[in-house]
Amino acid sequence: MTYEPTLKHARQRDEADPLSGYRQRFALPRDANKQPSLFLCGHSLGLMPIEARTLVNEELDDWSRLAVLGHEHARRPWIPYHENLTAGLTHLTGAQPGEVIAMNSLTVNLHLMLASFFRPNGRRTKILIETGAFSSDRHAVTSQLAWHNLDPAQHLIELMPPPGSDSIPEDAIEACLAKHGADIALLLWPGVQFRTGQAFDLPRIARAGHLVGCVVGFDLAHSIGNMPLALHDYDADFAVWCSYKYLNAGPGAIGGCFVHERHFKDSHLTGWWGHEEKTRFRMEPLFRPANGIAAWQISNPPILAAAPLIASLAIFQDARIERLRAKSIELTGFLEFLVERLGPDARFITPRGVDSRGCQISIRIAGSANSPTRGRRVFERLGERGVVCDWRDPDVIRVAPVPLYNTFEEVFRFSEHLAEVLREIP
Ligand SMILES: Cc1ncc(COP(=O)(O)O)c(C=O)c1O
Repeated sequence: MTYEPTLKHARQRDEADPLSGYRQRFALPRDANKQPSLFLCGHSLGLMPIEARTLVNEELDDWSRLAVLGHEHARRPWIPYHENLTAGLTHLTGAQPGEVIAMNSLTVNLHLMLASFFRPNGRRTKILIETGAFSSDRHAVTSQLAWHNLDPAQHLIELMPPPGSDSIPEDAIEACLAKHGADIALLLWPGVQFRTGQAFDLPRIARAGHLVGCVVGFDLAHSIGNMPLALHDYDADFAVWCSYKYLNAGPGAIGGCFVHERHFKDSHLTGWWGHEEKTRFRMEPLFRPANGIAAWQISNPPILAAAPLIASLAIFQDARIERLRAKSIELTGFLEFLVERLGPDARFITPRGVDSRGCQISIRIAGSANSPTRGRRVFERLGERGVVCDWRDPDVIRVAPVPLYNTFEEVFRFSEHLAEVLREIP
C-alpha cells in the first residue's frame, strides 16, 4: 500500500472509499465554537448512530402509549427484546446460534462468567492475566479468587511484556502456559490491549490454554466492531464485551457475552430471565434453563440501553465487518505512515504489523529534560485545537480512526496538528 503525505492524496482516498457514505449515518460532534471536532476516539465511546434517537423515542412512545402492555405489544415487544440484537452480534462475533447474547455490562458479565467457569480444583487454582490488564478485569479476577479463599498474591499470575517492550508476544504466553499450565484454572486475555492497541492471535491463545487444560476467556471490549471475530471456531470458552466503543451503542449501553455451545449444560447463575421463555411467567420454583446462552440472562434487559445498539448493528450488518476491516487497515496504515514521519518525538507502542493491531494506535510522546510532562501538554494542546483523542498515564496518546465514520482527510489533519504541537511544545 503506498501513501503520500498530502491533503490531496487523503481526499483522493476518501473519494475512492466505497464505505464513505456511512459517515452520514452518525452524529458528528462539534467543539465549544460549534466547529466540527476532529473525532478520533471511537475506541473509547463511539459516535451516535442518527437512527438511535428514533429507536429510543419509539420505545418511549410505546411505553407512554401502552404502559405495561408494551412487554408484548410494543413495536419490538420487550420480553424477547434481546432477539433484535442476536443476528448483528452473531455477524460480529462469529458465534453459532445460541452462543451469543446482549446483556448487562462488561464487568458484570465477566463476574458471571468467572462464577460459572472458574472452578479451582486440586493444584489447578490460578488465574493468568496480563500485567497492565484493564483495572476492572483485575478487580474482577482478584475478587473471584478471594471468594474462593485464594490469595491473589499466590494465585494470580500476571504476565509482563519482555524487558524493553510494550507488547506481549504470543510465544511468551505459550511459554508461560507450558511452565505454569498445570496450576492454572483459567486464562483471561484481551482481544486488543486497551493501552497499547496490540491485537492478539486469539485462536492461538485458546489452543495454547486448552492444551494445558485451562478455561480460556476473552475480554473483547476493544475488539468487537473493530476486527472480525470467529469465537466459535477459535474455540473460546467464553467472551465478554461492552457496546459503547466500536459498537456505538452509547454511554452505559447493554454489553454482551459469548459462551461456547459445549458449555450449554454447565451450571449458570440463575434468575427468572434465564428461565425458558414459554414457562417463565408460571413463576414455578424449579428453574428450567432457556436454550444456550439465554440461560445466563438472569434479569430482564434494559430496553432504553439496548435500543441504540439495534441502530448500530444494522449499520454493521449493512457495511459488513470484513469490508470495514479492509478500510481500517488502510486508514490506520495512513496514520502510521504520517506519524512515523514525525521522528522519535512520537513513538509507536502499538505493534507495527497489521495483524497485531486494529484501528487504534498508541503514541508515546518523548519527554525532554526540561519538560517531563510534555506528553500530557501535547495531548491538551491537541484538545484545544478540536482534536478528540485520549490520554493514558503516564505518557500515551491513543488515537483510533474508525472506518465507519472517520476519513483519510481527518487522519491527515490529525498528523498536521500533531506535528505543529510537537514544534510548539519542544
Ligand atoms: C478492556 C476493558 N475491560 C473492561 C471495561 C469495563 O467495562 P464496564 O464498565 O462496561 O464493565 C472496559 C471499559 O472501558 C475496558 O476497556
